Amino acid sequence: MKILAFESSCDETAVAVVEDGRTVLSDAIASQADLHALYGGVVPEIASRKHVEAIAALTEQALREAGCTKQDIDAVAVTYAPGLIGAVLVGLSFAKSVAFALGVPLIPVHHIRGHIAANYLAFPDLEPPFLALAISGGNTLIVDVRDYTDMVILGATRDDAAGECFDKAARVLGLPYPGGAPLDALAQQSPGGVYTLPHAHVDGAELDMSFSGLKTAVVNLAHHAQQVGEPLDRAALARDFAQAVSDTLVPRAMEAARQTGRKILCAAGGVAANSIIRGDLQRACDQAGVRLYLPPLKLCGDNGAMIGAQGYYEYLAGHTAGMDLNAYATRDI
Ligand code: KG4
Repeated sequence: MKILAFESSCDETAVAVVEDGRTVLSDAIASQADLHALYGGVVPEIASRKHVEAIAALTEQALREAGCTKQDIDAVAVTYAPGLIGAVLVGLSFAKSVAFALGVPLIPVHHIRGHIAANYLAFPDLEPPFLALAISGGNTLIVDVRDYTDMVILGATRDDAAGECFDKAARVLGLPYPGGAPLDALAQQSPGGVYTLPHAHVDGAELDMSFSGLKTAVVNLAHHAQQVGEPLDRAALARDFAQAVSDTLVPRAMEAARQTGRKILCAAGGVAANSIIRGDLQRACDQAGVRLYLPPLKLCGDNGAMIGAQGYYEYLAGHTAGMDLNAYATRDI
């Protein structure tokens, strides 16, 4: 079954063709990151307008690279939530038109389910049940993936997402948007251990997380150093910050594994590309006898293939939508 998949929830327009949920025939992405970098973050209206410009040509590209014609497509999958609402609406409207014109099923896909499904593309033998640590620019979740379309959130951030926190910390360190990857590179230049940063704990909800205090602490440290003319060890601050994020995420993921008895943990989302988090997860999983799946970096960030992968399993579960399908900025997994 060939699924034409659309993703437009933030600043990447992405269109892919995926066969039977596991084989990527094409994965075309048009990133707007350079444009938003001029403003230090994603400007929602600009994101929507860029999706409008890019999506038709990208669809032609995805079909061409897959060696397909429109008539070879069996179904259309699309991110319908969560994300920047104007941006999601562009992909959704276009996908609906394609499904309508071709007379094929329309499959709604939750963006975070898509991130988790990126693991099916990287690891052909992976099957639920497993735990997923889904860490992206807008979401930070520990998810019990009981089955392909049956998921329960065990823990979540109470405020900022981990990626948002990386981007803000990177900004005060003078790094370009999106700041996660450059901050990761800067952090590699220092062993850290210079700055004391807060590690929040949510009383009564040991798997939940909070990153806003950490974000504010880094911003305050940087501003204070600037005001009093003190030198800032940028690499050490990057390192200590990334370590603090990892120290929040990794023990909670392991505690979730302990509580559920799951023996497989998958990482997902853009922040799963972080080298410190990847290393800490690997060590913790080795110690606990948990098998860790870390998707390759290109499958961590937003892409269309992950929507095609999850779309296949949503289709098998009978989760198709009518032409009245709407977009949502927030939606339970
Ligand atoms: O999953 P993603 O591409 O988009 C969303 O669905 O949000 O995640 C983007 C986020 C950004 O905040 C970006 O800075 C972060 O992932 N990111 C990283 C790294 N690479 C990307 N954060 C930390 N370390 C990285 N190496």
